[in-house]
Amino acid sequence: MEIFVCVGSSCHLKGSKNVIDRLTSLIKENGLEEKVILKGSFCMGKCGLDGVSIKINDEVYSVVLEDIDMFFNKKILANC
Ligand code: FES
Repeated sequence: MEIFVCVGSSCHLKGSKNVIDRLTSLIKENGLEEKVILKGSFCMGKCGLDGVSIKINDEVYSVVLEDIDMFFNKKILANC
């Protein structure tokens, strides 16, 4: 599974670095390093949304840092 986290300027300001750090930790904690590949991405055109844009299987989600654990459980862990 490939996960793209937007590192465009708007998402950067909303904390994409922290989102990437947290996702990296969650992937390690759950032993998914072989299954989940985390990549940075340029702007996904969703800057107007509240959170950082994250794309999985061509679907773009907007996720704030406070919700990243829940997002990980629902969209990543549940599909691995
Ligand atoms: S900068 Fe992330 S969607 Fe535009």
